[in-house]
Amino acid sequence: MTGQVSQKEISGSESAKLWKRCLSGKMPPSWEKEIGDFETEMFLKKQGKIEDKVFAETRLRRGVYGQRYDNGKRHDGKEDRPIPYPTLGKLSKGPMTEWDAPGMQRIKIPWGGLNPDQMDVLADLAEEYSDSICHVTTRQDIQLHYVHIEDTPSIFRRLAAMGITTREACGNSVRNVTACPIAGVCSEAAFDVTPYADAMFRFALAHPDIQDFGRKFKIAFSGCKNNPCGLVTIHDMGYIAAKKIVDGVEKKGFEMVVGGGLGPLPYQAKLFSEFIPVEEMLPLAQAVWRIYARYGEKKKRNRARIKFLVADWGIEKFKQMVMDERAKLPVDPRWKELISPVEKYEERPLKTPSATRPLTPSPQGRGDYERWLKTNVRPQRQEGYYLVVVSLPLGDITSNQMRDLAAIARKYIRDTVRTTVEQNIVLRWVAEGDLPALYDDLKKIDLAQPFAGTIVDITACPGTDTCKLGVSSSRGLAGELRTRLAEKSVQMNEAVRNLHIKISGCFNSCGQHHIADIGFYGVSRKVGNYVVPHFQLILGGQWTENAASYGMAVVGIPSKNIPAVVDRLGEMYVKGRQGDEKFQAFIQRVEKIQLKKALEDLTVVPSHDENPSFYVDWGDVREYTISDIGKGECAGEVVSLTDFGLKAADRELFEAQVQFEAGNLEKTASLAFHAMATAAQGLIKGQNPDVSNDPEKIIIEFKTRFCDTEIFYDRFARDQFANYLFRAQAEGPAGLNKEKTQQRIEEAQLFIDAAYNCHARMSMEQTSPLP
Ligand code: HEM
Ligand code: SF4
Repeated sequence: MTGQVSQKEISGSESAKLWKRCLSGKMPPSWEKEIGDFETEMFLKKQGKIEDKVFAETRLRRGVYGQRYDNGKRHDGKEDRPIPYPTLGKLSKGPMTEWDAPGMQRIKIPWGGLNPDQMDVLADLAEEYSDSICHVTTRQDIQLHYVHIEDTPSIFRRLAAMGITTREACGNSVRNVTACPIAGVCSEAAFDVTPYADAMFRFALAHPDIQDFGRKFKIAFSGCKNNPCGLVTIHDMGYIAAKKIVDGVEKKGFEMVVGGGLGPLPYQAKLFSEFIPVEEMLPLAQAVWRIYARYGEKKKRNRARIKFLVADWGIEKFKQMVMDERAKLPVDPRWKELISPVEKYEERPLKTPSATRPLTPSPQGRGDYERWLKTNVRPQRQEGYYLVVVSLPLGDITSNQMRDLAAIARKYIRDTVRTTVEQNIVLRWVAEGDLPALYDDLKKIDLAQPFAGTIVDITACPGTDTCKLGVSSSRGLAGELRTRLAEKSVQMNEAVRNLHIKISGCFNSCGQHHIADIGFYGVSRKVGNYVVPHFQLILGGQWTENAASYGMAVVGIPSKNIPAVVDRLGEMYVKGRQGDEKFQAFIQRVEKIQLKKALEDLTVVPSHDENPSFYVDWGDVREYTISDIGKGECAGEVVSLTDFGLKAADRELFEAQVQFEAGNLEKTASLAFHAMATAAQGLIKGQNPDVSNDPEKIIIEFKTRFCDTEIFYDRFARDQFANYLFRAQAEGPAGLNKEKTQQRIEEAQLFIDAAYNCHARMSMEQTSPLP
């Protein structure tokens, strides 16, 4: 049954083999093993031994997304050019391709923290495997686009050697843990949430209780309630730093919220507790995960986020269930181990303020420097230090800029760099006297654009550029608006300048349009015989107070009229504003119908003859079409713990074959036995997710649940396959000759096949209609 395979074949290209060899032992052993496992799974996928569905969720959990690829072509402004892209052969590419099309690699950056060495590696990876652009996402991650799946193990290894993992960057799992990028240097925070966010990231990573979610789960930390940096209320679970006097002693803790989330149906997170002590942060999170995994929707994807469970039960019942679960949790030493070091966490500046040159007055006529100082530079809580926002148009930074920025960080601040949810990068601990020189250095690499945090600093999701679900070009529109608004910014009324714009390419809200002053999401409208790109206008969202309220859809506008809509809204606000009325209050006061009327002329699409440009989206030269919208990849289909267990069994058996080839008989027999036990464990997991990892205990449970009940029995072979497992356990791995060892492999394969059959039978029974 088994072809002759070798470790050489699995590792792919010469370069991949080299990285594997060079970086062996230079990362946490569990990470190294996981990457090796992924490589093997890729190999098995290529051989058709792993189902698409299972492999899709496997790669998503490693942050490897499919992406839109315009069928292997890209318009260069004059003509469609095929993109030269290495492929393994006949496999097709395009929006529907799930396997060998260029993909997007999401790289988890917990709390947005980066050091210069990591920045260098990111720059190299973007240059060598992607299109030389690192893209900062709306959840502090970094993404590379146009990556070939064959290169992903090398990417993982090179990142892992720098302490970065992509595990659970996508998929139905705990995604990146985000936090205010100015935590620890902001004067409004109760305390620095950074080490707590880090402890949460470490605790969640690969935790057994997060492996069976129906959808993704996002966590955020904020240092204060009033500001928007943490955006906790749009998250599945959020923590706001708080302090409380308990028995006369000041204690650190968090206000905890659950059940928030954007997407097509946005929900505000509900208050779980006004104060949980820091020691309870991890156990309570674990209890929440277990409740979500057990009771959350699994089949209907669009009802599977925890927000629906919290909404269905009500927060009181949800809370009670979580507290009961918490009371039952066996103590995990990691709760303490991960939290204890946080008190020692400290960020050290590279320079003392006095060691730097005195702040030189800006040279006459350097209005650009002054403007940058005003919008991109803020004093820190620590006297003499400043934080500097490096504005990244559309969240993009090239490899060369990234490397230069790393050098700048080394020169001025060392390792205190953070990505932000506004898709920028923050440099912290800049000594006051260094600001002019830092500005000059940033300017040299074209990273000294002003306007951070203003209407020019627009957030946008990937949209039709690379996302298969994109309807309209969010990045094309963001780029156009940025250019136009930047030109006007100097004369702009201050109140308008401080507004925020966020754009999503479709209703899924990856660009967080619900929480902008002015939000847009892509829609299309049929006009005569044509389809015209539009954006739905969302007004009144509140991004302050951790994203305290969501905006409402007002009207659909053709993409090409959006700049005019932004101008008109600005004018209306300046004219109609009462005193220093906030934009949200203004929008609430002005009736929606009035707003709609004021924008009515801008909803009209001229005929194709009159103005064909309306029929072409921003940043594109082709006539607009929606025929290339593909199947979404926000996370894979729900893959059960049993699917994963069986796949792990396949992998172990594959390793057994490799060992057999190398002549290691005892190791082969041991792995073959283990593969059977893993398959049995996978079946049990469908009934009892807490099944032990000990083969002996697995077998006892397997006997009771699957053999005594005859569920595992084959119609014809009856208990034959189960007996392979029992025999292998009784005989042990030692002393088998070559022939016997090979038999053991074959038996293990038959056992695993039987486990797949058993799982399929059970699934069919569960889903068959009631009589
Ligand atoms: C049904 C499918 C999808 C849904 C419902 C969805 C929804 C969301 C939401 C609500 C957010 C951010 C706000 C939050 O954290 O609550 C988000 C983030 C994001 N989404 Fe999607 N999304 C989907 C598919 C995609 C696809 C196909 C792509 C592009 C390939 C994409 C790219 C992003 C990016 C780049 C972010 C920032 C995320 C991060 O760094 O973790 N999303 N998504
Ligand atoms: S909002 Fe829509 S277009 Fe934008 S990334 Fe998300 S799914 Fe894609």
